[in-house]
Amino acid sequence: MPFDLNCPVCLQPLQGDLKHLECPEHHSYDAAKQGYWNLLLANQKRSKDPGDNAEMVQARGQFLSLGYYQQLAQTIALRLTERATAHAAPRIVDMGCGEGYYTQQMQQQLQQNISDYQLAGLDISKHAIKAACRHNKDVTWMVASGARMPIADASIDLMTVLFSRLMPDEFSRTLKPGAELLIAYPGDDHLIELRTLIYTEVRHSGFTPESVLGEAFEARQTETIRYTFTLTNQSQINALLAMTPHGWRITQAARERLAALQQLELTLDVCLARFRRA
Ligand SMILES: C[S@@+](CC[C@H](N)C(=O)[O-])C[C@H]1O[C@@H](n2cnc3c(N)ncnc32)[C@H](O)[C@@H]1O
Ligand SMILES: [Zn+2]
Repeated sequence: MPFDLNCPVCLQPLQGDLKHLECPEHHSYDAAKQGYWNLLLANQKRSKDPGDNAEMVQARGQFLSLGYYQQLAQTIALRLTERATAHAAPRIVDMGCGEGYYTQQMQQQLQQNISDYQLAGLDISKHAIKAACRHNKDVTWMVASGARMPIADASIDLMTVLFSRLMPDEFSRTLKPGAELLIAYPGDDHLIELRTLIYTEVRHSGFTPESVLGEAFEARQTETIRYTFTLTNQSQINALLAMTPHGWRITQAARERLAALQQLELTLDVCLARFRRA
């Protein structure tokens, strides 16, 4: 079922069909030819091309297509679906969805288990959303800002924020009381072997979602998803480097250390935390 959207200008409900939407104040929007909605207003852009650029989107898509994060994506999709069954006709948003690798697997899991749901993937990067559109037509994809979503107050049952920025004020506005927020973020040992090769001193981010989310959200449960996988050639190592911020900060000496490797065993260590909107 298509996801009900609101006007990014006046936040009133949008009505129409899969090609065109309009609000009561006659702000109108045409679907892009690929089928997504561009609901990012010019005054919400801090740069000409906000969010992940075309190269970042391409690099992430290339690495994810190798399948090493499939087990992670499946676990996230299962957990989301378990939570979704607790709500009638749940409305679900994947905020900062990128090119939709996780969103797509959520949609497949939901479809197998729930007859009536609405699922939207939202990202500020049009490159990411264009790529997402190609993979799955059963998600409502939109280019929009997570800091002001084209979504009615207290209308969301579940939101996922996977490796993306937390924006607690806007999440509080759009989530229903009692709604749930699922957050994925790197654990201390995530890609530790790669970080050890790149940095002389490996640091922990110290990030905790609690400290960012504040009192509107109650921590419910944190699960660690941890396994090892092995990259088996230089092309795979380069695909990972192009995707992670560690790869963007690499020195020439570290690049040479990595170039000498035939394979690289890595730890995936991801925290999946569930919060409840108070
Ligand atoms: C590290 S990527 C994660 C993408 C995806 N969830 C995944 O795990 O593959 C972070 C994403 O957040 C998006 N982003 C950055 N600022 C944003 C904002 N203000 N609103 C919505 N998305 C944003 C970027 O364009 C990028 O696609
Ligand atoms: Zn409007």
